[in-house]
Amino acid sequence: MRPAIIFGTRPEIIKLSPVIRGFLEKNVEPLLIHTGQHYDYEMSKIFLEELELPEIDYHLEVGSGTQAEQTGIAMIKIEKVLMEEKPDVSIVQGDTNTVLAGALASVKLLIPVAHVEAGLRSFDRTMPEEINRILADHASEVLFAPTEEAKKNLEKEGIVENVYVVGNTIVDAVLQNSEIAERKSKILKELGLKEKEYILVTAHRKENVDYREKLEKLVDILTSLPLTVVYPMHPRTKKRLEEFGLINKLNKENIIITKPLGYLDFLKLEKNAKIIMTDSGGIQEEAIILGVPCLTLRYNTERPETVKAGGNILVGLEKERVLYYVTKLLEDEEFYEKMASAKNPFGDGNAGKRIVEILLELKAKGKLKVRSSNFLNSLE
Ligand code: UD1
Ligand code: UDP
Repeated sequence: MRPAIIFGTRPEIIKLSPVIRGFLEKNVEPLLIHTGQHYDYEMSKIFLEELELPEIDYHLEVGSGTQAEQTGIAMIKIEKVLMEEKPDVSIVQGDTNTVLAGALASVKLLIPVAHVEAGLRSFDRTMPEEINRILADHASEVLFAPTEEAKKNLEKEGIVENVYVVGNTIVDAVLQNSEIAERKSKILKELGLKEKEYILVTAHRKENVDYREKLEKLVDILTSLPLTVVYPMHPRTKKRLEEFGLINKLNKENIIITKPLGYLDFLKLEKNAKIIMTDSGGIQEEAIILGVPCLTLRYNTERPETVKAGGNILVGLEKERVLYYVTKLLEDEEFYEKMASAKNPFGDGNAGKRIVEILLELKAKGKLKVRSSNFLNSLE
């Protein structure tokens, strides 16, 4: 069995690390293909090092660009590698341009695609990620849905074969690394922070930061918060804040801006935050896993399980709404505890192992292939 694992961004490295480990435990060496969608040290290599992943086989150096440029260049480069290596399956994770490129390039070479984190839907087609998710799911042969809700989304689109509910590999990653983070990370001391006395913020989503008026709203929210704010800043956001001349507005005594952090430091910051405020997908998941109330700076989410479980509230970029919930969380202990004790809906931390076992079994049974149909006999 020779699986190819295709990834290119920070969250894909983190969420695929349990799958890579799962294969290595079974003495299967996956072919690792990094598109280079993320390329700064602190957006990519730091995770490969911290998570002790094996050497990457192919660095494709796709880099940044428009949606089509990035996806197109990634497709062309991935196709070349796949034609040469002919893996048994291409594994992709999530909803980035790398995922779409990997899925399309593979299936057209008749290499079956296994999609990890299949079936998520925000039902917001203005998000590039929503288009990527839908298309990747429809190009896939094997669909690893994290929850029953995700499986239902697939069913509604007619995808019913080879769908497995396995949990989300983010639980595996958090469980495998949070104890190490607790021990090794010195980030609280470095930033002069006390446990449960700060709000951890991240925001990088295109629809929040690429438009001046939206970014102004975000800045207005952050500068109104009544607690210390720690914001490890994504390069997209930094670039836009500079471009729109808004970066200096965040020069405030209670706001700490850092470069993007490694996983151990970030996990430590998450675990010890009073509140997490984010537009990230993975961080909405990690917040409920770690038992930290999450306010999501979006108007919808493809992780509705977190909202239903009571650990996450959508606040959009509505300052009044944000401040209402921040105040309530700080002043109403019962409300805080209820959010903090919401049950993790993403599984037990064995998703990576399950994914590997299922793929090995499908391969052994000769079922790991792109479906085709043959109506000829039935016509005779
Ligand atoms: C991408 C994903 C998004 C995911 C995020 C994870 C798509 C459509 N979006 O968004 O779903 O949540 O990754 O972080 O695939 N940049 C750097 N250095 C880097 C990487 C990016 O400076 O190492 C800057 C560039 O200016 C680039 C911008 O960030 O244009 C955006 O990067 P890109 O990969 O296109 O999208 P993300 O916002 O990172
Ligand atoms: N993360 C990190 N350092 C940071 C910010 C995030 O290690 O400075 C991790 C975080 O713990 C989570 C993942 O990156 O596992 C989320 O990535 P991101 O928010 O970029 O993408 P999304 O999940 O929204 O696709």
